Amino acid sequence: MSETNHILNVGIDLGTSHSAISASNGQRHVVDSYVGWPVDMVARKILKRSVLIGQEALENRTMLDLRRPLERGLIKEGSEKDAAAVHALLQHVLALVGVKADDPERPQVRAVVGVPAEALRVSKQHLRQALKGVADRLMIVSEPFAVAYGLNALVHTLIIDIGAGTTDFCVMKGRYPTDEDQRTLDMAGDAIDLRLHSLLRERHPTAQFSMHMVREWKEKWSFVGTTTTRAMVTVPMAGKPTRLDITQEIRAACESLVPPVLETMLELVSRVEPEFQEKVRHNITLAGGGSQIVGLGQALEQALGDIGGGRVQMVHDVVFAGADGGLALALDAVDADWEKLVV
Ligand SMILES: Nc1ncnc2c1ncn2[C@@H]1O[C@H](COP(=O)(O)OP(=O)(O)OP(=O)(O)O)[C@@H](O)[C@H]1O
Ligand SMILES: [Mg+2]
Repeated sequence: MSETNHILNVGIDLGTSHSAISASNGQRHVVDSYVGWPVDMVARKILKRSVLIGQEALENRTMLDLRRPLERGLIKEGSEKDAAAVHALLQHVLALVGVKADDPERPQVRAVVGVPAEALRVSKQHLRQALKGVADRLMIVSEPFAVAYGLNALVHTLIIDIGAGTTDFCVMKGRYPTDEDQRTLDMAGDAIDLRLHSLLRERHPTAQFSMHMVREWKEKWSFVGTTTTRAMVTVPMAGKPTRLDITQEIRAACESLVPPVLETMLELVSRVEPEFQEKVRHNITLAGGGSQIVGLGQALEQALGDIGGGRVQMVHDVVFAGADGGLALALDAVDADWEKLVV
């Protein structure tokens, strides 16, 4: 077998809530970005494992020291636990596409890892440390750049990736984006959940619900603007299951995303050279789980109407757009591109 037969290219989207992998052997997987270690010897005896990942970690959370290592887009400064969690998460997704760390026959892995833009800017060194040893060749890029690459939206485009922890913006100008071309907002899915939770708590003080339930409701009913469907949920109130109409709260929580996204979008567009601004305005793509908020694209388009119009579209595959883009990058990269490149 020649050298190249042993190469496996992978794109990994390392997100706050989900991590996805797309490999050149055709395998694609997504896991919840949770990592947990058994808290004590009782937990260890029950779980019989040194570390649990994803859904399994969530289900056994009472027995675990549970982490979402990229929470708020950062590996917390100097936190060895978070670094170890990222490492374990990456090993896990690689195992899912057939790469076992201790397999002497394992292929040479060339990995492009997309992370929230802010994590890249602030904790680049921690990230590199955490990623050490998981792949033979490595490229760390910002998530929205990976999405742009996968869509071949490389020039005069704007990608807005609405995730759980952060909303990441990236203007593509036909070259690697710099810090100037990118922005990160803390306002994203998690912030909507918090807002919805507090609005519901205010309106129905005796209703019993958890953040997890609130997130599920949001994912089912999310919208901005107008709707004809009512968002109806059943919750216990003083122990009695009660039907509540939460349409207005859902709208208010989701709409809280619009002004900050709009502001950042317009600011980035205004920094593009004047003759290209119209092109960029007509090539805006929403990615990430939050892009599924019904009516969001139209709301942004409407606001663009005031400054000469624009077009906002959604990626087709919100789950794998970043990982697929990373894989496309890995496949196109030549030897000189690896390791040294960080955008
Ligand atoms: N239908 C939906 N409507 C609104 N929000 C949704 C919907 N589906 C998922 N989400 C939200 O999208 C977010 C997850 O998106 P995604 O998987 O892109 O995040 P991530 O990549 O893990 O996070 P980040 O990019 O911040 O690191 C969560 O807040 C989730 O609740
Ligand atoms: Mg993401």
